[in-house]
Amino acid sequence: DPSARQQVNTMRTLALVSQKGGAGKTTLALHLAVAAHRAGLQVAIADLDPQSSAWKWSERRKDHPEAVVTSAEQLEHVKAQAAAGGLDLLIIDSAPHADRPALVACKASDLVLIPCRASILDIDAIGQTHDLTTIARKPSWVVFNACNTSTEFDLQEARAGLHERGIPVYSGAVYQRVSYSRGFIPGRTAQEIEPAGRAATEIEDLFRWAADQIGLALSQPANIEAA
Ligand SMILES: Nc1ncnc2c1ncn2[C@@H]1O[C@H](COP(=O)(O)OP(=O)(O)O)[C@@H](O)[C@H]1O
Ligand SMILES: [Mg+2]
Repeated sequence: DPSARQQVNTMRTLALVSQKGGAGKTTLALHLAVAAHRAGLQVAIADLDPQSSAWKWSERRKDHPEAVVTSAEQLEHVKAQAAAGGLDLLIIDSAPHADRPALVACKASDLVLIPCRASILDIDAIGQTHDLTTIARKPSWVVFNACNTSTEFDLQEARAGLHERGIPVYSGAVYQRVSYSRGFIPGRTAQEIEPAGRAATEIEDLFRWAADQIGLALSQPANIEAA
């Protein structure tokens, strides 16, 4: 019953932020949004990146979840409209190399996820993004993305490095899989292309964990067999 669910959930906001381009902000924003949609939530994506790749994906998709193009200046307005429209979850996809909009995205959010590849260059760049979330006083977690499927070595090193620096890291991981990028052009995601694939499970785990972090009530486990 959607009306009962709306009484349970006040809108939550989740941002994907990383100063590094190519870390997986857009990929995770789209996949988490589809996971939320499949779990029966009303969800939309706020695309803060001037390259608007999330918005272009949603234009090709022609289905929920929708993405809207916005800016740091308009974000609060978009958020207020989304809440007034009965949304359960707003997912913000942000641009790299943009301190102020990234800070605005962090401040607007209940939870910030920082996608990061498990390589030294990427891990070194995490500090700056983590600082933004500290300034915004928002809980933030690094999510290792595009991890090597043939060895856990880099991932373990990366985890240990961030642990030493006191930076929280999501205990799961998202691996490098073609299904994450394959759906981009047709406006789909890995869960839809390969519902029984490993990517679908990884995203479902990440989504359930994130929903729990922000106190988002989920009625029943999403049926990942249903397309
Ligand atoms: N887990 C993954 N497996 C395979 N390809 C990925 C994965 N995550 C990201 N990519 C690819 O890497 C590129 C950059 O990812 P993207 O999400 O656009 O990063 P960002 O938004 O942080 O700049 C894209 O081509 C995307 O398809
Ligand atoms: Mg992007």
